[in-house]
Parts: sequence; structure tokens; C-alpha cells
Amino acid sequence: MKKIFTGLKPTSDQIHIANYFAAVKPILDYQEDNTKDLTLFIADLHSLNLVHEKNLIWDYTIKQAKIYLACGLDPEKILFFRQSHVAAHAQLQWILTALTHIGYMKRMHAYKDAVAKWNNDDITVGTFCYPILMAADILLYNIDLVPVGKDQKQHIEFARDIAQKFNKIYGETFKLPDALIPSEIWSIPGLDGRKMSKSYNNYIGILDEEKTILKKVKTIVTDNLSIEESKDPDTCNVYNIMKLFLDDKEENEKIRAWYTEWGVSYKDIKMYLYDKVIEFVKPIQDKYNDISDDEVRKMLEEWEKKASKEANKVMQEVMNKVF
Ligand code: TRP
Repeated sequence: MKKIFTGLKPTSDQIHIANYFAAVKPILDYQEDNTKDLTLFIADLHSLNLVHEKNLIWDYTIKQAKIYLACGLDPEKILFFRQSHVAAHAQLQWILTALTHIGYMKRMHAYKDAVAKWNNDDITVGTFCYPILMAADILLYNIDLVPVGKDQKQHIEFARDIAQKFNKIYGETFKLPDALIPSEIWSIPGLDGRKMSKSYNNYIGILDEEKTILKKVKTIVTDNLSIEESKDPDTCNVYNIMKLFLDDKEENEKIRAWYTEWGVSYKDIKMYLYDKVIEFVKPIQDKYNDISDDEVRKMLEEWEKKASKEANKVMQEVMNKVF
């Protein structure tokens, strides 16, 4: 049984459809795979680097948890907890911090990106130490595989390095995790053709209302070819978004044929996409609206008890070796 672990930052109130296919869908697939044991957590200690309003953190946390549940996460099969409520994360982080050199942290892409954006002195120490907390997150649960985007690969390498360093000094304790880089689908464009992203505000949200989705789909940027002209699906933003929903080969062929046939306009193709999106988000939204805050709070507390038990086993071993 391979142990898989992943964290999500509660920094927004919903996810967009590209997030679903890149992050949620693989988790649902692991859940159905009997050779894999899945642990998921809400990285709310990490989000403290950005969000300082208690209500906002809770709001984002509960909404993200509801979205994952509405998308099909099975509360019986996985652990899904708040990092802040399992004290061992912060505790282990300190011990690892004491073994980490500033030079190593300075080489991290995430820190370099922050330096490129802000004045060096304005970056929080929390942001600088982010990879150390992330390493603690992973090492507490004897994890085999961590699914992460390419941008996070370096953090997993750091987790391995610091685990090895600890093991060398104090004796074999931590399992060395590997990054699992999901095969990249294709770069899913947003409404304006740039990569779909919250920060570009060019996304279709999984919780968007029907009329919002209609409005957004209508604004997807296309070229100006007329009805009579043959069009290229592969360079079309509408098609590249639609592909997410085209599992069926025949349907895919049909849509591709539309592009080259006389008589189909971008308006028709957009309406087809609109129907596909609604068909996809509607059941998720219905489920989402059926889940109460109270229900989620109880689930989180249950999961946190279980996660604490597991993390404390490793933490106890660490304590025995260090002090
Ligand atoms: N850094 C991850 C992100 O930006 C979130 C995260 C925190 C994480 N700790 C983790 C992911 C541990 C995997 C494992 O999305």
C-alpha cells in the first residue's frame, strides 16, 4: 500500500474547472485505487503567510472541504484535516528548522519568486521557511508519494534532504518521500487564452451560477473566422476548454468536425460548451449546497483526532531521539 499525501491552501472560496481536472480528479482516482492510501490536509498554517482574518480562514477552509466532498471525496476512505489542529506539524517544523541552513532556503524557487515580487525585507520569515513546514507535514505521516506540480518538486527534494540529515544525526527515523508529478494534461486556457488562473480572473468557477457561466463562456476569446470558413480546433480556446469534458471519442470527433465544416459558428460551439459545463457543475453544486457547516466541522474534528494519533507516533519517536 503506497501512502499518498497532499495539501491544499485555503486561500480562496472556490476552485475553477482547471483546478478540478489538475488537482481534484487525480485525488478521486487515487481514492478508488486499492493500492493507495490517501491523506489530505488543509494547509492553514501555510495560509497564515497571506491571510490573517480568522473568519476568512475558516470560511475558505469550510468551502474548500465542502467542494472536495461535493466532488466525491469519500469521508470513510481518507483523512482530511486542518494542519493547525495537529500540533505535531509546528513542533516538528522547529526541530527541522534547527537543522536547516539559510543558504539552502535561499535557493528555493518559492523564495526567489517572492524576492522577485517584493522587497526582500518585506517577505515574512514564514514564507522563507515555508519548505521546512512542508517537509514536516510530509515526514510526520511516513509518506511514499506526494503529488505536486512541477513548481513544488524542489520542496519535496528538500523534504528528502532534511529527512536524510535527521536520520544521519539521530538514527533512522523518517521515510524518504518521492514527488509524484501528474502527467500534465495540456495547458488549460482561461477565457482570455492565458492559462486559466484565479489571479488572471479568467476562469470558470465550479460554483459559478448559470448566468455567470453563460456570460463567461460568451467572452471566451476566439479568432474572427466566419461561419463559412474552416477553423482549427487545436488553437481554439473554446475547444481547449471543452476537451476537459470530451471523454467520449465520438463526441470529440463530432466537435472537431464542426470546426472544419461549413455552417458552424463560434456562437454554436460556445453554447455546446456552456451545456457541457452546466451538466458537469450542476450535480457538484447540488451536493455542495446539501452539506451543512456543522457536518463538515464534525468531520474535520474526527479526522484531526485520527491524524494527531498518527502524527504523534512519529513525533514521539523524534522527541525520544532529540531530547
Ligand atoms: N505547498 C503546497 C501548495 O502550494 C501546499 C502544501 C503544504 C503541501 N504542505 C504540503 C502539498 C505538503 C503537499 C505536501 O499548494
